[in-house]
Amino acid sequence: MFAVALAAAAAMYAADAKAGKAQYDTSCKSCHGPDGTPVAAVAKMRKVEMKISSRRKSSP
Ligand code: HEC
Repeated sequence: MFAVALAAAAAMYAADAKAGKAQYDTSCKSCHGPDGTPVAAVAKMRKVEMKISSRRKSSP
């Protein structure tokens, strides 16, 4: 019984992750890259350091 609920929850979270990825792909990927690696041209154009990348690099 518990295992069934757990499996259902896991399936729900998988669906969430899929929806989130779809959203990311349409809304964020153009600047933040397909895997979160910032698109260098965007950072340059906006004259900012895209901190996500530096943060990602500093943490394992
Ligand atoms: C038009 C390009 C563009 C799009 C589209 C975009 N971003 Fe960004 N994002 C940037 C830039 C540039 C920065 C860095 C801003 C700065 O450092 O002042 C940034 C910063 C961020 C930060 C802050 C990082 C930090 O460590 O401070 C987060 C979080 C973020 N974006 C998430 C998202 C999400 C989620 C989406 C999609 C819903 C998205 N961005 C879409 C350009 C974009």
